[in-house]
Amino acid sequence: MNYDMNKDTPKIKTNEHQKSKDNFEQKAVIRLNNVTKSFGENHVLNGFNLVLYEGENLVVMGKSGSGKSVMIKCLVGLMAPDSGYIEVMGKEISTLDRQTLDELRSDIGFLFQGSALYDSMTVRENLEFPMRRHRDKLGIVKDTTPLVLEALENVGLAHTMNLMPDELSGGMKRRVALARTLILKPKIILYDEPTSGLDPITAKEIIELMRSIQKKYGTSSLIITHDVDCARVISERMVLLVDGINYAEGTYSELSASTDPKVEAFFKK
Ligand SMILES: Nc1ncnc2c1ncn2[C@@H]1O[C@H](COP(=O)(O)OP(=O)(O)OP(=O)(O)O)[C@@H](O)[C@H]1O
Ligand SMILES: [Mg+2]
Repeated sequence: MNYDMNKDTPKIKTNEHQKSKDNFEQKAVIRLNNVTKSFGENHVLNGFNLVLYEGENLVVMGKSGSGKSVMIKCLVGLMAPDSGYIEVMGKEISTLDRQTLDELRSDIGFLFQGSALYDSMTVRENLEFPMRRHRDKLGIVKDTTPLVLEALENVGLAHTMNLMPDELSGGMKRRVALARTLILKPKIILYDEPTSGLDPITAKEIIELMRSIQKKYGTSSLIITHDVDCARVISERMVLLVDGINYAEGTYSELSASTDPKVEAFFKK
């Protein structure tokens, strides 16, 4: 695969095996400190650290079952960690009541693995769903059409507004799902395997969309992926999750040049 490379220079330098240093030019929008989570004897997170800076694209890679989804669930308050500190946009997740957590979630877009569209709803209804759920944020919207259209135009699919998900290809579904996360104008977008199951050309289109969304809205993105090419093109910084910790951190070029066997394993084709 050969994605169009137009890589921005990294904004932050980090050192392997170390929690990234605070960078005073950039604000942290997500902070995980020493997070642990076990299921019985299965110790999934063993002191995991992560910082997402405002406006950056951070890629988290880890092999299947390493705890990436567990980490994201802890992050949005769907799962409680056993110990550690988790802060999103200055708020410590464990201290929030339901309503405050819900408000905070409306600022976080979550692109689920697959696309998770509601099959019985049209594209338009799928996009209206989060607007109804987070009415507090948008206020009463009398005519949803302009917002729905704006979100769909961002992904080049305005013409699909009245179609059912069944009538869309896999790549189109993924783009509609992305439009659905955009409708609330989130400050942070969490992508779980945004390119998995897509052919290389469609994957490239999705990556380009992610980049253009970041440029247009200045969103901060946490991207979970197995796709090394996706990581190369989109990441300004990467974190490798190995053995429950942030085993390695750095730019794509720093990490892909590493001779550490556990790091090398990620970049072998
Ligand atoms: N609710 C749960 N109860 C018990 N064990 C769980 C639960 N959720 C996750 N696990 C375990 O935690 C570990 C990490 O799971 P997780 O889903 O985070 O992996 P992942 O890194 O997202 O993998 P993949 O790349 O396949 O999506 C796995 O061993 C899984 O079985
Ligand atoms: Mg997962």
